[in-house]
Amino acid sequence: MAEPILLQTLRGKPTLRPPVWFMRQAGRVLPNYLKLKENYTFWQMMQQPKVAAEVTLMPVYDLGVDAAILFSDILVIPYAMGMGLDFTDDGPVFDKPLAQRSNPLVGLNPDPSKLNYIYDVVDEIIKTRPANTPLIGFCGAPLTVLLFMLQGLGRKGDFPDAVKFIYQNPETTQKLVDAITKLSVVYAKEQIRHGVEVFQLFDTHAGLLPFDLYKKLFLPATVKMAAAVRKENIPFIFFPKGLGTGIAEITPDHADFLSIDWQTSLPTARKLVHPEIGLQGNIDPRLLFAPREEMEKTLESYIEFGSKNQNWIFNLGHGFIPGLPYENARFLADWVKNTDWKR
Ligand code: CP3
Repeated sequence: MAEPILLQTLRGKPTLRPPVWFMRQAGRVLPNYLKLKENYTFWQMMQQPKVAAEVTLMPVYDLGVDAAILFSDILVIPYAMGMGLDFTDDGPVFDKPLAQRSNPLVGLNPDPSKLNYIYDVVDEIIKTRPANTPLIGFCGAPLTVLLFMLQGLGRKGDFPDAVKFIYQNPETTQKLVDAITKLSVVYAKEQIRHGVEVFQLFDTHAGLLPFDLYKKLFLPATVKMAAAVRKENIPFIFFPKGLGTGIAEITPDHADFLSIDWQTSLPTARKLVHPEIGLQGNIDPRLLFAPREEMEKTLESYIEFGSKNQNWIFNLGHGFIPGLPYENARFLADWVKNTDWKR
């Protein structure tokens, strides 16, 4: 059987078109997901292997994307470290955010077995997936995960208490980063042992700190994660959203492919990023609110880049947001697959 197109691109082989998948493709825009969600909470969906596998594969059938991404969340790591977590209509909420505790290191008690249900989900996906559908595993990078742990709430956009904590407590921050990284390495390796074939590290809030501070406190963890994943011969994609010109300092030690946000144009990113690193991205998800002709005009501007760059995965510059029209998501995937990329 031919190698799936996503794996071909990640392994540096030429293809006639870029592979396509979307960050946060498994919920939100899919009518079948919204229907299923009437019967379950998000936690229940994640924890029941049959349901989680069904949701994971839904975008493969309903959007026609070239890969599935495990249906889970980056916040399962703090949960497995002993933090109480609830997913509410207003986003995730933690009991006793770390920034409010007198000693944030006391009371954290990493228990890798609390992630076991996720490996059952991976097993179920591998068993039921259609042929030629690679499975992407993932976790959150320590900064983004730590911001939620410190602040406690997901919708406080700029995490004010968390950033203040990081400046006031660099040593404790370092210890927390190390603890998150250690458990994340175990988690990534187990996902791979159960069958994920590509791994993505999400650092959605990488742009919240000055690049030099981010580089010192948080980028070493990315090197550790990338090394652990590549040791298993699995390609590693890194999504540090909002890094700006910091992408010029990402080296092959950090990533095989770098996922570019919608703020940075792909040709500019290509000039800045190390030539051995492939790119992924970077459609603004909100483009899907625009009239079809506007969408098409923007998409056509990607053809020149795609004709010249084989080491590129078509994706969004951040995940799908709730309320985007499903038909436009479907159109986007179809467009990538039916366009003449002049290769
Ligand atoms: O494609 C997929 O949906 C795969 C699974 C996935 C989820 N979360 C499911 C989810 C992935 C890859 C994530 C990553 C994630 N989770 C990130 C990083 C990527 C990004 O888009 O920024 C972050 C920051 C989180 C934390 C998180 N989880 C927030 C802030 C929220 C609430 C707000 C929101 O975006 O919906 C969640 C809940 C969540 N995670 C949902 C889903 C499908 C929504 C649950 C629902 O349907 O109510």
